[in-house]
Amino acid sequence: MRRVIKHLLQTPSAVSARLRQNTSRAARFSGVYPSRDAALASLPESARSGYDNADIADVSFEWMCQRAAWDYPLLYWLQNIAVEKVTVLDAGGHLGTKYIAFSDIWDMQHIHWTVYDTPGIIAAAKARQAAGDLPEPIRFHDDLGEVPACEILLASGLVQYLDQSLSTFLMQLKQRPKHILLNKVPLRDGKDLFTVERIGTARVPYHIRSRQTWEAELANLGYEIVDRWEIAGLSHRISTHPWQGQTDSAGYYLRWSEPGAAAHESDPH
Ligand SMILES: C[S@@+](CC[C@H](N)C(=O)[O-])C[C@H]1O[C@@H](n2cnc3c(N)ncnc32)[C@H](O)[C@@H]1O
Repeated sequence: MRRVIKHLLQTPSAVSARLRQNTSRAARFSGVYPSRDAALASLPESARSGYDNADIADVSFEWMCQRAAWDYPLLYWLQNIAVEKVTVLDAGGHLGTKYIAFSDIWDMQHIHWTVYDTPGIIAAAKARQAAGDLPEPIRFHDDLGEVPACEILLASGLVQYLDQSLSTFLMQLKQRPKHILLNKVPLRDGKDLFTVERIGTARVPYHIRSRQTWEAELANLGYEIVDRWEIAGLSHRISTHPWQGQTDSAGYYLRWSEPGAAAHESDPH
């Protein structure tokens, strides 16, 4: 029996990926669930804090601070929009990785860069910043209520982890951002599903949205979709469920388009 299990673990198949699901050799994505709660319930108690965990702040930090090909549409639009003094809310901004990735080729002194992330990640960010290991201008918050009003919302690699819709998230902001940049949004042809992503020793529910439902949600936000881009380099399959097909990845630039939007501060939504 042991030999069979060992053989299966060494075999690159959906069966072996399933067996490894809760081990340190788990595939990056495993399992398919109908809801975030079901994905969470599949995890051992000790692995449920997900991204709200200072201990995983180091995972992929250096890699996320490098500019990848799919960051360039963000840079292009940011450099077009943020020409004057402006506040960027970098939601899911981790330790300020995008600020770090962009600041060596772009003078960002006119930008008030605010990162919003989970309490665990923000605690790690503040400790690193106090030790002089992160750029001083970045402001870190773990409470959306404390985040300043922003003209630009950046959410790079966030929406798959959020436990709420984008419109609910937007409603909690002090002011409707005039510009929204979304990157690395996982999409599929078919129904929404959830899988579990392995991040170091942690496990996180990961939402893969139906392309059709997602684009309908975007259309209902009242923003014009000015640009969208496909990120071929980030498409993947769930190792345990390859028959669910490919997950694609996309980015978007949305601009508020309704008349009078600029005067919305007292009526954010
Ligand atoms: C894959 S990282 C993306 C980091 C960076 N924005 C980038 O694109 O490289 C996802 C980030 O989203 C954060 N995150 C996950 N769930 C969140 C939530 N509910 N609220 C705020 N941030 C969250 C994680 O802590 C993590 O920093």
